[in-house]
Amino acid sequence: MEKTLHVELKENRYPIIVGSGNITRIGECLKSLSKSTRVLIVTDTSVKHHYGPLILRSLENAGFDVDLIEVPVGESSKSLEQFARIQDSLVANQLDRSSMVVAIGGGVVGDLAGFAAAVYMRGIDYIQIPTTLQAQVDASVGGKTAINHEKGKNLIGAFHQPKLVLIDVDTLNTLPKRDLRAGLIEVIKMGVIRDEHLFEMVEENLEAILDLDAETLIDMIARACANKADIVAKDEKESRLRMVLNYGHTFGHALEALTDYDGLRHGEAVSIGMNCAAQLAVNLGMFSKTDFERQRNLLIQAQLPLTFPSNLTPKTICETMYYDKKALDGNLRLILPTRIGEVVIRDDVTDTQIIEAISQCN
Ligand SMILES: NC(=O)c1ccc[n+]([C@@H]2O[C@H](COP(=O)([O-])OP(=O)(O)OC[C@H]3O[C@@H](n4cnc5c(N)ncnc54)[C@H](O)[C@@H]3O)[C@@H](O)[C@H]2O)c1
Ligand SMILES: [Zn+2]
Repeated sequence: MEKTLHVELKENRYPIIVGSGNITRIGECLKSLSKSTRVLIVTDTSVKHHYGPLILRSLENAGFDVDLIEVPVGESSKSLEQFARIQDSLVANQLDRSSMVVAIGGGVVGDLAGFAAAVYMRGIDYIQIPTTLQAQVDASVGGKTAINHEKGKNLIGAFHQPKLVLIDVDTLNTLPKRDLRAGLIEVIKMGVIRDEHLFEMVEENLEAILDLDAETLIDMIARACANKADIVAKDEKESRLRMVLNYGHTFGHALEALTDYDGLRHGEAVSIGMNCAAQLAVNLGMFSKTDFERQRNLLIQAQLPLTFPSNLTPKTICETMYYDKKALDGNLRLILPTRIGEVVIRDDVTDTQIIEAISQCN
């Protein structure tokens, strides 16, 4: 079973293929896309260990001349240093404008390799093979690429759309369960912001999802990607519509910053953030208590956290939210739900209201 959908952009379109076992056919897949036989694989140590040999074999069997660069595991690899290593490798191996970069890994590798491809020779083609649920439903789709600066996350980046996103749900078999659950938050988020049916799919199939039933995962991931593809098609460069993807994220990013991006997974911080945002929406009289409980129950069932670490105060969290780059002209723009499947953008919420909602999520 395999599903293919497309991201339809103004100037081009690219496929997202969601299936089981399809990375073993990566060589064949790339043949139809690539203008040359030169490929640079970018991956991290852990993903290389699990999937490096399989992918190298498939590409080499299909006649590709492959180089591989491995970066250390973790967010710290989204750095100028690792970026420079990739550029050095592209130059040293004489990759040209027709060569291709293949990113295999989670969002870290995807963002880093995508940015490297975006600027080498003013932009060469790349493909995404996301291997975390987070990257499969979110980071690999949409063409946002970036590395971090010591002063802030994703400060150096570019929009550069991949030629293909190839998702193999079998890769989730080796992903730690904690990362699987953290990635699931982006699916639940997509459900709350615009697709009640997707939310229901997670409610009804949570066990099968966590047990990695391939068919269920393919259905769910394809539906989440279709939503993201639709948003990206309508708002490629993030003007307004794409902002809805930040539901729970303004709170979440503050928690990540306050915990030094350590201890809390991104998805866990967003889970707490979604609970706070939903509480705020209830307080503002725009979201029913029933829908609030429905979201809360699903997060609990998925064993995602709902309350912020006890060493942080609601006031500090609120203050830190203003450092998020989505704060505009000093005003916070919050994505708040009106029901499961619909959100609105609000920029008129007071700090007192925000602090009160956070306090209720302790
Ligand atoms: N570009 C975008 O639109 C976008 C959107 C959301 C997030 N992001 C970025 O994504 C990054 C987070 O991505 P992530 O959560 O995938 O983290 P990650 O890339 O660090 O991966 C998490 C961990 O899982 C390991 N791993 C990956 N695949 C595996 C597999 N199949 N089996 C075993 N281990 C595996 C990795 O080695 C790593 O240790 C952040 O840097 C974030 O900024 C980008
Ligand atoms: Zn996110």
